[in-house]
Amino acid sequence: MSKPLEGIKIIDFTHVQAGPACTQLLAWFGADVIKVERPGAGDVTRSQLRHIDEADALYFTMLNSNKRSLTLDTKTPQGKEVLEKLIKESDVLVENFGPGALDRMGFSWARINELNPGMIVASVKGFSEGHHYEDLKVYENVAQCAGGAASTTGFWDGPPTVSGAALGDSNTGMHLAIGILTALHARNKTGKGQKVAVSMQDAVLNLCRVKLRDQQRLDALGYLEEYPQYPHGEFSDVVPRGGNAGGGGQPGWVLKCKGWETDPNAYIYFTIQGHAWAPICKALGKPEWIEDPAYNTPRARQDKIFEIFAFIEGWLADKTKYEAVDILRKFDIPCAPVLSMKEIAEDKSLRASGSIVEVPHPQLGKYLTVGSPIKFSDLTVDVKPSPLLGEHTDEVLRGLGYSEQQIEMLHQERAV
Ligand code: COA
Repeated sequence: MSKPLEGIKIIDFTHVQAGPACTQLLAWFGADVIKVERPGAGDVTRSQLRHIDEADALYFTMLNSNKRSLTLDTKTPQGKEVLEKLIKESDVLVENFGPGALDRMGFSWARINELNPGMIVASVKGFSEGHHYEDLKVYENVAQCAGGAASTTGFWDGPPTVSGAALGDSNTGMHLAIGILTALHARNKTGKGQKVAVSMQDAVLNLCRVKLRDQQRLDALGYLEEYPQYPHGEFSDVVPRGGNAGGGGQPGWVLKCKGWETDPNAYIYFTIQGHAWAPICKALGKPEWIEDPAYNTPRARQDKIFEIFAFIEGWLADKTKYEAVDILRKFDIPCAPVLSMKEIAEDKSLRASGSIVEVPHPQLGKYLTVGSPIKFSDLTVDVKPSPLLGEHTDEVLRGLGYSEQQIEMLHQERAV
């Protein structure tokens, strides 16, 4: 069965995580993604955090599946010639080099547009064009700090904290993929390519939208009623860190379950949602709280929120996180166990849905990766192994019309 993006050829000039996450997604959906890597070295993640000597690291294999690898030194005249040919035949070029690197390589937007007016050039940078920090090189946690995530994550008596989720990296890649698909759609109508850019700061900020909401509410009111600081704590003039409070005005917290003393993840997330209050009271054996005006609205509960959570923890003390969720789900109460990565890796439902996939690999034997989080009724995403460095160099060159002799020359000149 043909895949939706079949026929779309992508020059993948990406490295580390933000760019590769984007192009991997497009490869899953059928695009021919040619990863261009420096001969001899390749993407730095091939060797970062290896667990088997000389084998590609999981950091690489988990972000580069379904791609082809072409080694090419784009700073040599021969390498530039190959890249020019590739640009003429491709639809999209994706890059996340440091600021100005593509221009320094001799492939400015103007030059690429001249070579192929239909080409979409998609970029990830740390900060957007014209930003006073536009010259900075940026990694994940830098973006989380600059995008508002770190100042609003963690506990109020602790320092700014970054999330374990790749809000700066993979999240930016996902935004870029949306931009590329939009530009491809536009090109179907106009025939013209365009530049698409996402900054990591903007992509983080986009996920911190509710915190900008809170800043404006705080400016207007001087307090935020759904934060644990209300009504007893102090508010300054900036959005504070709210611990594990829910962001939508619905008080919630991470609560201890049976075994928390020895298991760092024996917890559930428990939301005291407005509409779920009555079933929560029934489940906890506290029916008198349902109509009690001291408890029956989120705001009324806020000044005794930690007493309520302590009561629920008492109820949870003899239940594992799984037993607790099994009881609470019968009452239609939003909650979930706090799952460790080990539990996620072994989760049968995630395996069955293709969200966790086992992939064979010539050097690693096999490895687990995260499959497509997007599910389609008419597309099965088949996660294939990531390519070895330069695995498809000759194949790609042949496809560009190079003879075997010319290919041999390119190898000798170390251009590929
Ligand atoms: N052939 C020849 N040269 C190549 C090449 C190839 N195939 N591929 C890359 N290069 C060169 C680049 O042209 C650049 O050269 P120059 O700086 O002399 O012009 C050089 O390699 C280094 O590129 P750069 O991207 O700046 O790498 P870095 O290791 O110094 O920085 C980042 C890494 C991630 C910090 C930086 O790329 C960056 O800020 N990217 C944008 C934001 C981003 O995506 N961050 C990472 C999120 S996971």
